[in-house]
Amino acid sequence: MAKKPKRIGILTAGGDSPGLNAAIRGVGKTALGYGMEIIGIRDGFRGLVENRRLKLDKSTLAGILTVGGTILGTSRDKPHRMVIDGRTRDMTKVIIDHYHEWGLDCLVCLGGGGTQKNALRLHEAGLNVITLPKTIDNDVAMTDATFGFATALDIATETIDRLHSTAHSHHRIIVAEIMGHRSGWLALGAGIAGGADVILIPEIPYDVEKIAEAIKRRSRNGTNFSIVAVAEGAMSRDDARALLAAEKKLERAKTLHDKKEAKVELATLEVRHAGNTMRLAKHLEELTQLESRVTILGYVQRGGTPSAADRVLATRLGSAAADLINEGHYGVMVAARGDGTEAVPLERVAGKRKCVPPDHSWVQAARRVGTCLGD
Ligand code: F6P
Repeated sequence: MAKKPKRIGILTAGGDSPGLNAAIRGVGKTALGYGMEIIGIRDGFRGLVENRRLKLDKSTLAGILTVGGTILGTSRDKPHRMVIDGRTRDMTKVIIDHYHEWGLDCLVCLGGGGTQKNALRLHEAGLNVITLPKTIDNDVAMTDATFGFATALDIATETIDRLHSTAHSHHRIIVAEIMGHRSGWLALGAGIAGGADVILIPEIPYDVEKIAEAIKRRSRNGTNFSIVAVAEGAMSRDDARALLAAEKKLERAKTLHDKKEAKVELATLEVRHAGNTMRLAKHLEELTQLESRVTILGYVQRGGTPSAADRVLATRLGSAAADLINEGHYGVMVAARGDGTEAVPLERVAGKRKCVPPDHSWVQAARRVGTCLGD
């Protein structure tokens, strides 16, 4: 019979998101119930390298359910490419050694897409690993939802609500930039819930003329203000084409020189993209003759106390993770599936992204109520 797990390590990695502490508590309290010992690892995978940890017991786990951020700290460090004393190094072996030295029976990693990949690497290197899906972007594959998303959705929606009255008073276009580099769930959800007139997401490249036409149509019908909800990663059809070409070039590149050239092209496009929301607002102002303003929601979307929905989701995923650990079931992500949970092998999650299907019911509903999607 497999050895019963006695001591587990838990870490949070990638960008923080509301609900992380609720998940730590969910894993921790359930695991304590099984008689396990829980070691909290500080600042993501870096804490495992630098031997930074704290014991999580009943008292440290108390009172954290409603607290934003992560009591453990987080970082975007990758085990196989970590900057140590100014040099990028593969720290996988150090992590494995510390895992064994600390007497861990399992490592629980709470994170988004990048963390799922890193967790799989460690699992393939021989560690018992289990993950939970968190990110405000809601773009982790194979799960109905990620914790953090519901809270961010509430915050972004409230912001759009507030922008309406000022846009209305000043007869302006207000372009609200919402987080989501590669996926548009947050902008789409908040745009629908907040009644944005235009919603732009990375999955549906836009034509600025079409957006301007929708705004002018509103003006002709007597409504001379508009709210545009734009995801960070939304881009015009031309930019999307250029990005695709550069990505293909990188894929096809055989020589070091070609690879370098394609990478420079990609980086140039990314730098250009950084000012996209400002450029879009200016362009719409020119095309519609309506004054425009930009509001970048930024990190308020990730900060603060988690919503009730995220607390529930994080608690049930966390406690399901402890159940799986107790059964010795590793190498999986605990996914939300309907009212239940499902253990999905990490190979099926890592390296995949859940994007908004262009014919998704949210997209269809937005179109049905007359929202312009920019295409
Ligand atoms: O992955 C979550 C996310 O909040 C994205 O929506 C956003 O683009 C990114 O993280 C910001 O990352 P950082 O915290 O590294 O600035």
